[in-house]
Amino acid sequence: MTHILVQRSDRILEIELARPGKKNAITADMYAAMSDALASADADANVHVVFLHGQADLFSSGNDVAEFLDPALRERGEGQRFVRTIAATRTPIVAAVGGVAIGVGATLLLHCDIVVASDEAQFQFPFVTLGLCPEAGSSLVLPQLAGHRRAAALMLLGEPFDAHQGRDAGMVTEVVPTAQLMARGRALATRLAAQPRDALFTTKALLRRPLADVLPGQMDAELVEFERLLTGDAARETFRAFLARRGRGA
Ligand code: COA
Repeated sequence: MTHILVQRSDRILEIELARPGKKNAITADMYAAMSDALASADADANVHVVFLHGQADLFSSGNDVAEFLDPALRERGEGQRFVRTIAATRTPIVAAVGGVAIGVGATLLLHCDIVVASDEAQFQFPFVTLGLCPEAGSSLVLPQLAGHRRAAALMLLGEPFDAHQGRDAGMVTEVVPTAQLMARGRALATRLAAQPRDALFTTKALLRRPLADVLPGQMDAELVEFERLLTGDAARETFRAFLARRGRGA
């Protein structure tokens, strides 16, 4: 069971994070399934848009914390393959965010093109508090969207923020009531699906071109520091404390 549901209809490839019992925490298998789905969207001339979402009240609590402590899983490199794949995906991505979007559950949104959030969504970049540093190119993209001052506060303090603050920071396109979240996300995806594909893809590529040149280098730098901090005492202690408080397993 990958906990990622993928379906295609009417030029839309839909990806659903579906592990609600674990707050949609993302495992290596889930990263792999999402990377493959994004690659299949790019390879399919009939797909014009990706629609990415969890449930109306839940997006993702980020990387599965238990897997952070498993070197064999990290060596598979699926987390890195995913963040590099989503950053390079040529197909426009619409995301619908309800509930928590934490860690990579928030940083992956920086690589989506339209982000609709429910008025109950809650975002967080908790990396520093966990003894880690930003990943997924977020140390480059967030300051670009939000400005250095606001990005520094969000990253260094690591506090949760709501959808309106997310919109002010340039991360969220539009805030809607929770009951309208999925319908609004799907309506925007449908609207993009009706646009001419070449013009759509070319425009996305041009919008992201300045970033595309520098993003891989920043991701490399983040990865070196992230891996170093991950084996440090501060990070290992916070993860152990989290897992000790709660049960493990699928
Ligand atoms: N990795 C692994 N398991 C996770 C998880 C994660 N990132 N987030 C939640 N879970 C699991 C919990 O361990 C719990 O499992 P259990 O029922 O087997 O005990 C289950 O999901 C429900 O989570 P719980 O913490 O009981 O729900 P909550 O509503 O009290 O809190 C969160 C929700 C998201 C605020 C809280 O789970 C949390 O802080 N998660 C960790 C977020 C994080 O640090 N992510 C890593 C970023 S780098």
